[in-house]
Amino acid sequence: MTKLAIVYLSTQGSTQMMAEAIAEGVSQKHIEVRVNNFYEWDPKDAATYDGIAIGSSTFYYKMLEPIAKFLDALIAEGVEGKVGAAFGSYGWSGEAPVMIAEKMREAGMKVVDPVLRIQYVPDEKDLKECQRLGKDIAMKLKKLVKE
Ligand SMILES: Cc1cc2nc3c(=O)[nH]c(=O)nc-3n(C[C@H](O)[C@H](O)[C@H](O)COP(=O)(O)O)c2cc1C
Repeated sequence: MTKLAIVYLSTQGSTQMMAEAIAEGVSQKHIEVRVNNFYEWDPKDAATYDGIAIGSSTFYYKMLEPIAKFLDALIAEGVEGKVGAAFGSYGWSGEAPVMIAEKMREAGMKVVDPVLRIQYVPDEKDLKECQRLGKDIAMKLKKLVKE
């Protein structure tokens, strides 16, 4: 079965809320999804999934260091041709998701648009947008399997 891994790191829970809403959208399209904090994931295991969505809030104009390390380890496993997605909560500059998406593209992943950034705590409308992204990721995964 086609499956998606959602890996996130969130200091106050905002990026976590996004991750869970994305997972809801994915499930609604009947794609298997596992959503967990990065420390509950082994990059080797995540690399076996058909799609990988990674979320980090922005700290000091970058993604959080443990996510940067996770992403490097994941890429080292080989992720070419897999579906990727990047997301995260931010305060004022929001570089983290953009940097995640850039690294994914460099590694040959097919990154789903948009790279989703939500300012501070997501509201109802923002969470709907996250669910929408989840559905789009699911559709891209289904298309990939057919190819
Ligand atoms: C010490 C510190 C540094 C931060 N640096 C940035 C930054 O450089 N750019 C930005 O957009 N937001 C920055 N933020 C804001 C966080 O990204 C924002 O609070 C976000 O909602 C946290 O999401 P989380 O709960 O998922 O970690 C910073 C916050 C703190 C506490």
